Amino acid sequence: MVRINNAYDLNHWLLVLFFLAQLCIFVSSSDASEIQTLLKFKSFLSNDTALDNWNNSTNPCNGTTNIWSGLYCEKNGKVYGLKLQNMGLMGIIDIDTLSGLSALRSISIMNNNFEGPLPSVNKIGALIGVYLSNNQFTGEIPEIAFEGMNQLKNIYLDGNEFSGEIPSSLAALPKLTVLDLQGNQFSGEIPNFPQDPNGWKHFNVSNNQLEGPIPASLSNLDASAFVGNKGLCGKPLTPCKSSMKWINSF
Ligand SMILES: *[C@@H]1O[C@H](CO)[C@@H](O)[C@H](O)[C@H]1NC(C)=O
Ligand SMILES: *[C@@H]1O[C@H](CO)[C@@H](O)[C@H](O)[C@H]1NC(C)=O
Ligand SMILES: *[C@@H]1O[C@H](CO)[C@@H](O)[C@H](O)[C@H]1NC(C)=O
Ligand SMILES: *[C@@H]1O[C@H](CO)[C@@H](O)[C@H](O)[C@H]1NC(C)=O
Ligand SMILES: *[C@@H]1O[C@H](CO)[C@@H](O)[C@H](O)[C@H]1NC(C)=O
Repeated sequence: MVRINNAYDLNHWLLVLFFLAQLCIFVSSSDASEIQTLLKFKSFLSNDTALDNWNNSTNPCNGTTNIWSGLYCEKNGKVYGLKLQNMGLMGIIDIDTLSGLSALRSISIMNNNFEGPLPSVNKIGALIGVYLSNNQFTGEIPEIAFEGMNQLKNIYLDGNEFSGEIPSSLAALPKLTVLDLQGNQFSGEIPNFPQDPNGWKHFNVSNNQLEGPIPASLSNLDASAFVGNKGLCGKPLTPCKSSMKWINSF
């Protein structure tokens, strides 16, 4: 026991206790804030019984082990990936809230029932993987939707109802090696993809409404990556017919 002899000692010990209390709040705050962030993210979802164990009486992660379902955790107990697949989820993907997860690098919400436009994933510039396959996302994707995502390697948008042109900011991603856009309603020409043509691990734009010549940088890929489009031509598909525009220009 510490004996407190006078007012000076008392003040001294109160001061020490005060700083210790501050320290405790500081040490636990990173976990507490990830709990609040994830619960806020969940509050925008519906049909979410698969996430019933997201409960503020437990931590989301214990080291690399996820306690809450659908999370990938790092050694320090922070969330680096969401793996919310095949859960019947609906509602809103609140990217603004997710941007509060400082270690988040990967978002997978494949095989759910999300609708509406592409979530603004570029608000989290550090993402490496974005997996949105097989939902009901619709509409045109803004040109700049992927701007600044210099770490992004893997993108799956397949099996949705995206339309309009393939955004130029997507084609320009410097580290992209996996891209799947198949089974949407993308139209127009395939933009030039300046990445190393031999660097692709996966590339598929089949079953859209794309047209025009396949850029030379993609010509060594498998033909099955391009099938099911109304007007694509050139290697690895059949040669392009000279267009009326070309003939008229003579
Ligand atoms: C969290 O889990 C505890 C213990 O399992 C339970 O008593 C409590 O009702 C749960 N809270 C919520 C909000 O689900
Ligand atoms: C945990 O969740 C319950 C039920 O939603 C709420 O009443 C309680 O204040 C929360 N506790 C903390 C520490 O956030
Ligand atoms: C966290 O993991 C450690 C080591 O694996 C284990 O001993 C501990 O019981 C776990 N804590 C919780 C709350 O699950
Ligand atoms: C709700 O989620 C369950 C799985 O948890 C799924 O079987 C069901 O189809 C979903 N309901 C709707 C309306 O999407
Ligand atoms: C592209 O997707 C289509 C449709 O799912 C599939 O038939 C084809 O084999 C795929 N090709 C490549 C190279 O992934």
